Amino acid sequence: MDMYHAPDTLQIRPSILYFGTPVVLITTRNPDGSANITPMSSAWALADRVTIGLTGGGQGLANLLRERECVLNLASESMREAVERLAPTSGCDPVPAWKRGYRHEPDKFTLAGWRALPSLRVSAPRIAEAPLQLEARVLDAIERPLEAWRGDAGGYVTLELEVCQVHAHADIVVPGTSHIDPRRYRPLFYVFRHYYGVGPALGRTFKAEV
Ligand SMILES: Cc1cc2nc3c(=O)[nH]c(=O)nc-3n(C[C@H](O)[C@H](O)[C@H](O)COP(=O)(O)O)c2cc1C
Repeated sequence: MDMYHAPDTLQIRPSILYFGTPVVLITTRNPDGSANITPMSSAWALADRVTIGLTGGGQGLANLLRERECVLNLASESMREAVERLAPTSGCDPVPAWKRGYRHEPDKFTLAGWRALPSLRVSAPRIAEAPLQLEARVLDAIERPLEAWRGDAGGYVTLELEVCQVHAHADIVVPGTSHIDPRRYRPLFYVFRHYYGVGPALGRTFKAEV
């Protein structure tokens, strides 16, 4: 097979590779029993497993490694402004020195203006405003240094989670089924550090259920 050499392709070294994944708001429980919210987007799902990546030095990560459970609250387009209010904050006190531009925030629910709901199977609360709330337990955690790619002190941890309970707003569920209606679900996406919503529908796969 002859290789085609596209003349308009550039070889670049972008500082990040956030190519577009949904914004997930991880709720965890702090050591004092209060709740923390970690906005993140390095997440993907396969069956009932969700794999996430968190850089070191965060409160959500410390809580996850200690309590081994959390809720993955999927943000909707309408939650964008509140997500960005949380963006420069951390539940860590003090905030690690290398996280420049961040401040400590002990009450992220109030800052975002969201309501906490009790979960059924984990101790962390859910975010009522999130259209999908996935209660999950940690199956595995792999710690890695990040120096090879970036100067941060923290490294990162890949966590494999098992979802044990799914909550969905009734208006995104096809009546009488357990199927999410993608025509009504409006996830918020994080694309190279910008927020995007869902564009017009382009079609379905042969395996689509609705
Ligand atoms: C939209 C968005 C996406 C983010 N994605 C990630 C991510 O995938 N992994 C990560 O470690 N941090 C991510 N962050 C940064 C964390 O939210 C940030 O480190 C925060 O201070 C963590 O809060 P915590 O220390 O209370 O857990 C993201 C932030 C925003 C606003």
